[in-house]
Amino acid sequence: MEKREALYSGKAKSVYRTDDPDRFVLLFRDDTSAFDGEKKEQLARKGMVNNRFNAFIMEKLEAAGIPTHFEKVLSPVESLVKKLDMFPVECVVRNYAAGSLCRRLGVEEGQALQPPTFELFLKNDELHDPMINESLAETFGWAGADDLAQMKALTYKVNEVLKKLFDDAGMLLVDYKLEFGRFNGQIVLGDEFSPDGCRIWDKETRKKMDKDRFRQGLGEVIEAYEEVGRRLGIQFD
Ligand code: TMP
Ligand code: ASP
Repeated sequence: MEKREALYSGKAKSVYRTDDPDRFVLLFRDDTSAFDGEKKEQLARKGMVNNRFNAFIMEKLEAAGIPTHFEKVLSPVESLVKKLDMFPVECVVRNYAAGSLCRRLGVEEGQALQPPTFELFLKNDELHDPMINESLAETFGWAGADDLAQMKALTYKVNEVLKKLFDDAGMLLVDYKLEFGRFNGQIVLGDEFSPDGCRIWDKETRKKMDKDRFRQGLGEVIEAYEEVGRRLGIQFD
């Protein structure tokens, strides 16, 4: 496999073409952004930590029968993935109330949500990722009804696998965001799973161990990411 030119650069990752038209290299950078890119900083080690974290989680999900784009780790900050045709939607499941749900509905942070909620957002920074629904996604052609049903089922299946994984390691999986794409006609999990795109709290103290530490200026951001990883048994360089 040969890494070729950069195809695009997102807020935290860059994507490179390879000599295989169906494979991309994902480069996890130290860049950290929040509030749709309004707050930006470089956090040393984040690229390496998120690359290792993502590989560990994607392998767990594959083992549980969830198709993912992840193929293998190539370097401390790079992984090989399948080239997906991405849907411009973000699927969010919440087990506890936090973030935009509390702001939107005035509910108290930390309230357990039973059953867990499922929300759809449009991936569009200029519009600040507005909340959408199945009807809007279908009408505007962002995703079809069958695609959405599959994405929703997979997002909930991820919840079953990861809730237990984090719980067994003394943590609560509060919420998370997933992105999907199509590969050879199959709906496949893409993007990444790392503390950048989910909320994780210590089960006893409810200490925040995810990107909310960066959003809220709580400090020790990467230290917290590494602590989450260590509890799950991930080896960092
Ligand atoms: P929210 O509370 O801001 O709606 O976010 C819910 C979860 O999804 C939280 O873990 C952060 C994650 N998320 C992202 O990582 N990127 C996004 O663009 C959105 C909308 C959510
Ligand atoms: N990841 C998004 C951003 O960088 C949303 C967020 O985390 O606040 O803007």
